[in-house]
Amino acid sequence: MSDKDLMMESITWAAEKEPVITRRFYEILFERYPQVAPLFSRNARVDQARMLQDAILAALDHFDDAPWLTSTLGAIGRKHIEYGVTDEMYPWVGESLVATLAELSGPRWTPAHEAAWIRTWGALAGLALAGAAAARANP
Ligand code: HEM
Repeated sequence: MSDKDLMMESITWAAEKEPVITRRFYEILFERYPQVAPLFSRNARVDQARMLQDAILAALDHFDDAPWLTSTLGAIGRKHIEYGVTDEMYPWVGESLVATLAELSGPRWTPAHEAAWIRTWGALAGLALAGAAAARANP
């Protein structure tokens, strides 16, 4: 199965348990990294959860569209500087996302699902970090 299929499959499993998957994600993120919680103040928690979920689904929709991914993730990385997000936080978010999907998928989750998410999160975060670095170099 492709990374994209593995990711979609685990999202479907997780969504059976929790329609807005990322609600559980924020609980795990704030439990593991309480220092990021104060950054999330602008929007209601449910709206934030939906925005992240939509962004991930949009990225999966454009999985093979490198120009779209580069410009969209680059813009997200730039914007996130204003939210107080630092580079080191990207792995924290990736780790919490993987933990959330593993938990909600239950026994159906396999090392292949984990590898697909880690690989893809690394790629998406890399594009966002490149956007942030470019914005810092050229504010
Ligand atoms: C590639 C990874 C990420 C994606 C796709 C993503 C996606 C989004 C989206 C779509 C929004 C909605 C507003 C906007 O478009 O700017 C948002 C807001 C936000 N994100 Fe992310 N994000 C990512 C990484 C992170 C990381 C690593 C953090 C660090 C904790 C973070 C913290 C936030 C905060 C604080 C907001 C503003 C929330 C508010 O308005 O209260 N994001 N993100």
